[in-house]
Amino acid sequence: MNKPVLLGADLQRALFAADMIEGLSALPKATPPKWFYDAEGSRLFSEITRLPEYYPTRTERALLAQVRGDIGQAVGPGRTVVEYGAGSGDKAVTLLHGLERPRAYVCIEIDPGAARATAEEVAGCFPDLPTKGVAGDFTALDGATPAGPPGTRLGFFPGSTIGNFDPTDAAMLLADMREHLGRGAQLLIGVDLVKDRDVLVAAYDDAAGVTAAFNRNLLVRANRELGADFDLEAFAHEARWNPSESRIEMHLRAIRPTSVRLDGRTFAFAEGETIHTESSYKYTRDRLAALAEAAGWSLETVWTDPKDWFALALLEG
Ligand code: AVJ
Repeated sequence: MNKPVLLGADLQRALFAADMIEGLSALPKATPPKWFYDAEGSRLFSEITRLPEYYPTRTERALLAQVRGDIGQAVGPGRTVVEYGAGSGDKAVTLLHGLERPRAYVCIEIDPGAARATAEEVAGCFPDLPTKGVAGDFTALDGATPAGPPGTRLGFFPGSTIGNFDPTDAAMLLADMREHLGRGAQLLIGVDLVKDRDVLVAAYDDAAGVTAAFNRNLLVRANRELGADFDLEAFAHEARWNPSESRIEMHLRAIRPTSVRLDGRTFAFAEGETIHTESSYKYTRDRLAALAEAAGWSLETVWTDPKDWFALALLEG
């Protein structure tokens, strides 16, 4: 990996400001979820992954542990694993245990501390494996050179992070990864599946309020890093299932009229108006196959847990 995906703190701040201004200027207001993940946001997200209501992480982890040997068989020996957006190293460690003679491990993660910590965690379990953590944005892979010879790379995109992207952007992202990984690559993605509405909504509106704090942390971060003046008390967390779009939506709802100043601009909120802060798309097998094909991959194998709540899909280019 080299420079194009490396982002300095100043550039990160400028991109955050630009995204917030664009998002608050839009109608309806909507901001990209990648800015949730400052140090506090990453900490809150890892707390979410341990909540009783938040099934995806534990379901995927159990599934991966169960089928890692099958994945290793399907994938073949000598792979360089390139993980996109790793928040921690535990899934990579489980995957690597299932692979035959892995060659190297690289992760690309927007939070520099998490990038380093993840690479170190993996190195701690595989002392002979070359590992590297790159601070950067996996949605801007242009020109970044991946590690390892072409034809040996296995992209790894777990956690249903793909669910954050609308279907068009999701296909473009998987196509970018295909290009980034090069000829003969494979990609293992974790995808959350459509299920009962109440199960879905509870996973994004937990009783302990951790997801609410995670959502509101976007405003806390904007206040601190961008000098914005969001009135935190004026916004309530909301999680909705949107069946026609097959997605959970998180919003921050203004519970009274309020306004915010950011970089010399003022953005007004009517009572009840929301910022749409995140979408989390849920897939069916058919839609997953369509997504893979739209991105130029072919869907080789799909592994699911016994309840059919979560899928690990192996794509080949
Ligand atoms: C990290 C994008 C997979 O959509 O489930 C969890 C983020 N947001 N709770 C998800 C998240 C609220 C998570 N992803």
